[in-house]
Amino acid sequence: MRILAIETSCDETAVALLSGEGDVLRLEKSIIRSQIDLHETYGGVVPEVAAREHLQLMMPLLHQALADGDATTKGEDIDAIAVTAGPGLAPALRVGVETAKALAWAWQKPLVPVCHLEGHIYASWLASEVPQFPALALIVSGGHTELVLMKDHGTFERLGETLDDAAGEAFDKVAKMLGLGYPGGPKVAQLAETGNVKAFDFPRAMLDRDTFEFSFAGVKTAVLYTLRKHEDRLADPQFKADIAASFQEAVVDVLTHKTLKAIHKVKPATVILAGGVAANLALRSRLQAVCQAVGVRLFVPELVHAMDNAAMIAVAGYFRALKGDFVDPISLQADPNMDIV
Ligand code: KG4
Ligand code: ZN
Repeated sequence: MRILAIETSCDETAVALLSGEGDVLRLEKSIIRSQIDLHETYGGVVPEVAAREHLQLMMPLLHQALADGDATTKGEDIDAIAVTAGPGLAPALRVGVETAKALAWAWQKPLVPVCHLEGHIYASWLASEVPQFPALALIVSGGHTELVLMKDHGTFERLGETLDDAAGEAFDKVAKMLGLGYPGGPKVAQLAETGNVKAFDFPRAMLDRDTFEFSFAGVKTAVLYTLRKHEDRLADPQFKADIAASFQEAVVDVLTHKTLKAIHKVKPATVILAGGVAANLALRSRLQAVCQAVGVRLFVPELVHAMDNAAMIAVAGYFRALKGDFVDPISLQADPNMDIV
């Protein structure tokens, strides 16, 4: 089966082509155009600006993905079209969804709506070895932080999620406070490399509670108060690096601690780290150490597949297509609040 996938949920326009036979997948093309430069001037993603850019990039990217020599396929060799239907920014999502609908209708091909979070989990299927079920997934992105138990393809149970900010969101906000700009996560992570993780004792919310819920609003506010208290040190690069390192340490502590708790409770065969924050090296290595200590294999996507991309949407779409999870192209609507369960 050959899948064409489209992803436009936030500020990456992405198109991918993937072939699959049983459990054997082959990623043929994965094209990602980031809009970072465009949104940097606004200090964050502006939904309407993102949508306009998706519109401009969509046809050239499709042409690039589907071109065979000079000719573009008319869809004869595509078996299904997968698209991110949500969650995400409504105007941005609509571009991908309406494009996928039009192609499915014109080519008369089945259409598979994919949840963006499910896509992030499936990024771990883009490697030669893949997770076993039941798999425990820690999803950490700009909009979501949750622990999900994946019992089989397409079968999810949420164990807990953040009650306020997502981990990525906290990284982005702290970056703003430190004057690092957008997108914040990678910049905070980079600055943290030269900082002391013990310089500030930031709160680790809900650590001892017997639930799998998270809260990152407290640590973000604690950073703000610390910056206000030490206004005179703001020009000191070491001070900022110490803040970044101590903040990152608090977030990584909570994420790994809760994941370990979930491992003890649900005893998964494998653990999956998913979402943009999976690009964080401190989180990757700490979670790796924790999983190794308890003898559970951790799957972490390659960096290029950790951030938003269409390859992961193609994989999720492929496994849904195998089960015939198709929708009528006339009725599909983008769903900004779409959930994995
Ligand atoms: O999954 P993603 O690309 O988009 C969403 O679905 O939200 O995740 C983006 C988030 C942003 O908040 C970004 O700051 C964060 O992932 N991020 C990181 C790192 N790279 C990206 N956070 C911490 N450390 C990183 N290295
Ligand atoms: Zn994402």
